[in-house]
Amino acid sequence: MAQAKEAWSSRFGVILAVAGSAVGLGNFLRFPGLAAQYGGGAFMIAYFVSLLLIGIPLGWVEWTLGREGGRRGFHSTAGIFHALMSRPWAKYLGVIGFFTPVVIYTYYVYVEAWCLGYALNAITGKLSVPGMNYGEFFARFTGAQADGVALQFGLHDVGIFVLIVYVLNFIFIYRGISKGIEMVCTYAMPALILIAIIILARVMTLGTPDAAKPDQSVLNGLGYLWNPRDVATGLKNPELWLAAAGQIFFSLSVGFGVIITYASYLKTKDDVVLSGLTASAANEFCEVGLGGLITVPAAFIFLGAAGVAGQGTFALGFNVLPEVFVRMPGGQIFASIFFILLFLAAITSSLSMLQPGIAFLEEGLGLGRKASVALLGLVTGLGTLFVWYFSRDLKAMDTLDFWVGTLMLFIQATILVIIFAWNVGIERGWALMHEGAEMRAPTIYKFILRWVTPLFLVAIFVMWLMKNVAGWNFSFSQPVFAPSGYVLDLIGAQPSPVARLAIGMIVLITAFALVLTHLAGKRWDAAAARTRTPKGKATP
Ligand code: PFF
Repeated sequence: MAQAKEAWSSRFGVILAVAGSAVGLGNFLRFPGLAAQYGGGAFMIAYFVSLLLIGIPLGWVEWTLGREGGRRGFHSTAGIFHALMSRPWAKYLGVIGFFTPVVIYTYYVYVEAWCLGYALNAITGKLSVPGMNYGEFFARFTGAQADGVALQFGLHDVGIFVLIVYVLNFIFIYRGISKGIEMVCTYAMPALILIAIIILARVMTLGTPDAAKPDQSVLNGLGYLWNPRDVATGLKNPELWLAAAGQIFFSLSVGFGVIITYASYLKTKDDVVLSGLTASAANEFCEVGLGGLITVPAAFIFLGAAGVAGQGTFALGFNVLPEVFVRMPGGQIFASIFFILLFLAAITSSLSMLQPGIAFLEEGLGLGRKASVALLGLVTGLGTLFVWYFSRDLKAMDTLDFWVGTLMLFIQATILVIIFAWNVGIERGWALMHEGAEMRAPTIYKFILRWVTPLFLVAIFVMWLMKNVAGWNFSFSQPVFAPSGYVLDLIGAQPSPVARLAIGMIVLITAFALVLTHLAGKRWDAAAARTRTPKGKATP
């Protein structure tokens, strides 16, 4: 395409960038919350099965297709599908790869702003204001209390932090692949791992701080998360499988269209098999080895099982942990660095959600860097404004996360693996994947990619629809169908205007993406026709 060629400056840099995308709030908040909720052991079995059958193979698919697309001069999912499949409709299959990261960015960045706000407030020792407990402060700060309350700009309001994270994200994305994304990840990733290790050391040496409550010890805290409870029953619970597979997607950033874009900036002969595996391994280290050992044990030691059970992802991080930190020796410092850690983890992920959009606008519409950054800033800014204003019960965010952050993911992931294993063809795909490879993937993965991953994905997706849309209780003997709140919000007796608006926003962005893809297709076809036209007869 017409743009100057961008590339990662080193192999280590791209691995750090993909790991940076993967390591995020999912590792330090979402994962421990889910593992605790589903009773440790059984969840971990389903989690590792999903890692082996979905996470790692889909990662390889994205790395391979991305590098191949990059060779042909394309960096967006739509462009890459168009180049690989040479069918007029192929580019439309890639629309989700533009749309999903853009929509997720609109609310992920909002949570990123909470992290920055909490970090700065923790440093100044003001993680709450007089007369409010942590929960009340959280509700006020994030706007969960009422619509519109978060649109304020004091030090105890999220407003200023939303602006700061927007400016930071767009400055870095404007600087490009190696000077922006790679540079941030080169500093942020080691820093966040170091901070996590320091906090882990603090938590692991807490012992039994309250002699009157001998049960609340480090060991019991770890046991609460990790001791297998009712493994057999757990594994029969479809919800546990949905949660585990969903976490693998979210955490590894696979299926979003992000890794495919990152991999398209590789050099032609760069290895993808080992790099993909290394990035996944780095994510698992941060998730299971660090995230899984910090939040829940820390909360358990001070608050006991009752203080941890049933806490959602956000409550665990933003209500429970501040309370835990004040009870801990050196708590103010540890609270500050913990929220800095979350912020660093979040920004390396949010940057990865912007790049697919930038790539698409540049190569699809021929826009320059400035124009594509400005246009994407406008679109995502409007989306974030929506999430920020309609913050009551975090409804707008929750609705977008459900329909886009989960539903669209299954669809995009299934499309990716089918294109790789069936359209490109497993033999050719396998050969492409191993070009320049520094290790060979086990041959069993040919079979897994062809049959197991797609079937597993479809099975999980059908289960997801049955549970969340049709509301089946998974009982054959006494089946009950009660559509979930997300569906009732749209078509129930008392629909939620905010949920409906969120769907309206999704439809609008989809339409926008489809129109752009159509225009991009025309541009690409014209460019292809020009190269086919014999010299001298080229159209102007
Ligand atoms: N993997 C990130 C996390 O664990 O927080 C989240 C994420 C990043 C989701 C990039 C989607 C994405 F495109």
